[in-house]
Amino acid sequence: MKIVFATNNAHKLSEVRAVLGEGFELVTLREVGITEDIPETGATLDENASQKAHYVYERTGLDCFADDTGLEVEELNGAPGVRSARYATEGHDFAANNRKLLHELEGKTNRRARFRTVISLIRGGVEQQVEGIVEGRIATEEAGCGGFGYDPLFVPDGHTVTFAEMSADEKNAISHRGRAVAELVKLLRDS
Ligand code: IMP
Repeated sequence: MKIVFATNNAHKLSEVRAVLGEGFELVTLREVGITEDIPETGATLDENASQKAHYVYERTGLDCFADDTGLEVEELNGAPGVRSARYATEGHDFAANNRKLLHELEGKTNRRARFRTVISLIRGGVEQQVEGIVEGRIATEEAGCGGFGYDPLFVPDGHTVTFAEMSADEKNAISHRGRAVAELVKLLRDS
């Protein structure tokens, strides 16, 4: 089954490919001729995922899905949330985002946080949404060099190491995106 995944992020692509498994051929944006950044102007993850999926569907008419992820930190009232990519600067600068997060939480004892991924799927013109969540906490310093984004700071519940210290398979098995994609697979298999 061919389906377009609305991302240009190579890390995301390989994570989603691994979880989707056999039977699905993921087509990238570049392969369908979309090279520009897709606008993400929604006020919520749900709105952004939907906006990105519609952007692809309107231009290609192909079945497609888009995801949007946010890191929601309790002490920061859910920030950076929908602004996770542009937390420190407009430039998707992972290192600067991590520095800012550590700074905002300096001296704070409540370091509870969760990653939430929303996926919008459009099949035959009909949209459906699924969600995946992983709860955890923000470490006091960065550790590990795997993954991307906030991975060096996020320690999932039940673990003592960050996502960046785990193998790709370990992260996928428990991550927000892994869980959202597992729900996506159910939708794709059920219909
Ligand atoms: P996006 O809008 O789904 O690309 O995600 C927004 C931002 O959240 C990204 O730029 C990353 O900083 C962060 N993010 C998304 N997924 C992950 C992840 O799996 N690990 C760490 N950070 C992530």
